[in-house]
Amino acid sequence: MARIFKVMIQAVVCAVILIIPFFWLWAVPSVENHPIATDAETIAKGKYLTAAGDCTSCHTTEDGAAFAGGLKLDTPFGGIYSANITPSEKGIKGMTSAEFYQVLAYGSYKTFRPLYPAMPYPSYHLVTRSDSDAMFAYLMTQTPVDQSVPKNELSFPFNIRQLVLFWNVLFARRGPYEPDGSRDEVWNRGAYLVEGLGHCGACHTPHNSFGAAEHDRALAGTPLAGYEAPDIQPEALKRRGWNAEYLTEYFKTGRGPKGTAFKEMYLVVKNSLSLLTDEDRAAIATYLLDLPSAPTADGNVVLAASDGDTDEPYPEGRTLFLNNCSMCHGPRGKGVKDGAPPLAGNSTVAQVGGRNMIYAIVYGFPEPRSVPNSSPMPAFKDRLTPTQIVELANFLRHTFASETPDLPKITEADIEAILK
Ligand code: HEC
Ligand code: HEC
Ligand code: HEC
Repeated sequence: MARIFKVMIQAVVCAVILIIPFFWLWAVPSVENHPIATDAETIAKGKYLTAAGDCTSCHTTEDGAAFAGGLKLDTPFGGIYSANITPSEKGIKGMTSAEFYQVLAYGSYKTFRPLYPAMPYPSYHLVTRSDSDAMFAYLMTQTPVDQSVPKNELSFPFNIRQLVLFWNVLFARRGPYEPDGSRDEVWNRGAYLVEGLGHCGACHTPHNSFGAAEHDRALAGTPLAGYEAPDIQPEALKRRGWNAEYLTEYFKTGRGPKGTAFKEMYLVVKNSLSLLTDEDRAAIATYLLDLPSAPTADGNVVLAASDGDTDEPYPEGRTLFLNNCSMCHGPRGKGVKDGAPPLAGNSTVAQVGGRNMIYAIVYGFPEPRSVPNSSPMPAFKDRLTPTQIVELANFLRHTFASETPDLPKITEADIEAILK
């Protein structure tokens, strides 16, 4: 008898746990509908904000019409296609400004049809209502594209959309950005852009096995396929020699004394950061560094120190560098203007795990992106043995990242991990 009682209690507890998400769903606040603005000023503001939110990188395919969606995002749970967000029947024509805001703020605008968090509402919830309305007004002026997007290719059970309701209960945060009164306006603007519209943490913050951001390790870096979105917390950035000036230049052009943006970050720069005002780029840098710009070491490491130096710890690496790399990156690793980036002081060389540096050597850059006029960098995976790559990589770190002490040594296991 007592056992049946226990089972019944367990069943009730389970039912309550299962029902919680639905309370949450009901709790998605019904928000007020606002008329869609049509004045030029609001539309221009909306255009700017969609750039700050980098909507293009996901909602426009390489040769596709603007905002027509259909880009496949590969997640550990399968492929998810971005939505058509042009004002067509197949897009957001029927949507209201209230529903659009609910998408950004709660990741859900239709009962029982939550969006997958591949749409970065876990960051966009910080967006203000007036910024949301401006983006909506701008999108409504776009050419409607009557194009449906392919069906998602998610594996079971992730193809059950309603499971996201539980995910939201466990992991989603809510509420627009609350300015920090102890900080100035610039810092707060930077925080709003980085944490909210810019959704930098979607790539740079480690995510748990449910695909939710680990907020206590915000911007601490995370491995991607074969390379990584590096640690961009203040300490890590400063250790690699970044300052406000270098960051703003990198955000504007995708290159600078600390190297180039070459993978996902290239698109972030092209479709978002390069289109912002100097003030907003500076605000982002201020927030990332969390203190007023203070120039740090300029990365011009003195290679001469090891010229003819009998104590050179990586003599073979040095020879490999001179024979394979110096013609583009310069004999002293200082790079070539509008050509190959400097390796001396390069932030990629100084990243702790070295994944991006190894990735660059192993696969090269068949189409240099941030420096379009330079010669493509060849892949060295068939030209150098893993042992040689180890020797070369350690030479690069010893010589060109000497301002970042105590970097772990690259081993063959690191090379094998990237080659996999
Ligand atoms: C990292 C990729 C990514 C970015 C960046 C992104 N989106 Fe999305 N968005 C998606 C995906 C994927 C979906 C579809 C999700 C689903 O099917 O559950 C989506 C869905 C939407 C929807 C819902 C459409 C519908 O009819 O259900 C809207 C509205 C939207 N996005 C607007 C935006 C806006 C505005 C921005 C920029 C501020 C933006 N998105 C940036 C990936 C992205
Ligand atoms: C033919 C010219 C060329 C050669 C040879 C070359 N590179 Fe490069 N390298 C480039 C270019 C161009 C880029 C920038 C790619 C981009 O931004 O898309 C680059 C980028 C890199 C990066 C990433 C730097 C950053 O800014 O983040 C590293 C690391 C690198 N090269 C190392 C090497 C090493 C080591 C060798 C020799 C084994 C080498 N390269 C040989 C042209 C070259
Ligand atoms: C879609 C994924 C993605 C998003 C979103 C993203 N990044 Fe990155 N970021 C990367 C990757 C990958 C790299 C390293 C390789 C490269 O250059 O693409 C990188 C590199 C960087 C670097 C250079 C670090 C170094 O040491 O070389 C900085 C700084 C940076 N990101 C800042 C930002 C900021 C600020 C935002 C938000 C406005 C942002 N990132 C959004 C993926 C992303």
